[in-house]
Amino acid sequence: MDKNNKKPPFISTLAQKFPESVSLVEMGARDGLQNQPETFSASLRAELVDRLASTGLKRIEAGSFVSPKAVPQMAGSQDVFSALNRKSGVVYSALTPNLKGFEAAIAAGADEVAVFASASEGFSQKNINCTITESLQRFEPVMDAAKKHHLKVRGYVSCVMGCPYDGEVSPVQVATVANALWQMGCYEISLGDTIGVGTPLKAKRIFAACSKNTPIQSLAAHFHNTYGQALTNIYALLEEGLTVIDSSIAGLGGCPYAPGASGNVATEDVVYMLEGMGIKTGIDLEALLNTARFIHRELGIPSRSNAGVALVHSNLNS
Ligand code: HMG
Ligand code: MG
Repeated sequence: MDKNNKKPPFISTLAQKFPESVSLVEMGARDGLQNQPETFSASLRAELVDRLASTGLKRIEAGSFVSPKAVPQMAGSQDVFSALNRKSGVVYSALTPNLKGFEAAIAAGADEVAVFASASEGFSQKNINCTITESLQRFEPVMDAAKKHHLKVRGYVSCVMGCPYDGEVSPVQVATVANALWQMGCYEISLGDTIGVGTPLKAKRIFAACSKNTPIQSLAAHFHNTYGQALTNIYALLEEGLTVIDSSIAGLGGCPYAPGASGNVATEDVVYMLEGMGIKTGIDLEALLNTARFIHRELGIPSRSNAGVALVHSNLNS
């Protein structure tokens, strides 16, 4: 406490403006399952997606149409799409690295697709076997085809807070790739902390750099929780106007080309925090816990969601 003016030495955040509602994009069935050591049947993957849709989630990435040699866990995504019990009002999307993937996604009935680039050259090469510039060129025909089919395209930028191969990545470089995706027609750019190394002020600097030339309401946060920073980084960006968050049931996930990276921030943790702050998500936390229980049972792995584990215990004890 400052003796002279008796004011506390911090600024109260209670008056901070936060968004009234936030949109969540569920990653469990794609980012989550792509990094499991084993592959799962299309029917199990579809059941996970159906259960996720019944929690109130409106945007679900259901699979990816990439080389099955590169990511065998996502092979058969067309069968996942055809096994879905589609819920009206839910958008079922898919990752597509090139035109071949886009055509497969369209044939499978994806409502929306996503292209994925990297802010670092090292990860671009390892993940999609080309430079950043080449990847953007590959996305052009995908954008053209999507336009013809009246399909929306989301864009990802990986390694926004650091690269497992190149180390530091500059905010300007992140903003340049994000804006390139925006300029080519992606309606939303999801900023991926692929290896979960970011901290809050860094997240703010990157968000500020990106929002200089790409509308803030078109930016999403896709934070992996390797260093336990994802929720804090999301909070930091909510202060800056973030309204779209990618998360994964039970904190599942990771990228086969980002060794050691853990899952996305857990959907249960994000919903618990947002609802606790009075920010609407439209998601039923109890239904999420049931879905998490299903996936633990099927995958045989423990939850990476702190709120999920705590709520299950408190429900058992009540
Ligand atoms: P390439 O070897 O340069 O491509 O791979 P290619 O065109 O020379 O084709 C090689 C082979 O792949 C050919 O088959 C193609 O037909 C086949 P072959 O003749 O050898 O039998 N192929 C395909 N098969 C199915 N679907 C396709 C497709 N395209 C080519 N769409 C490629 C380039 C991009 C295809 C490859 O590197 C690849 O599939 N990479 C996938 C990487 C991936 O899925 N990573 C994980 C998702 S990204 C992520 O998790 C990050 C994110 O979550 C955000 C974050 O956290 O930062 C989004
Ligand atoms: Mg990811």
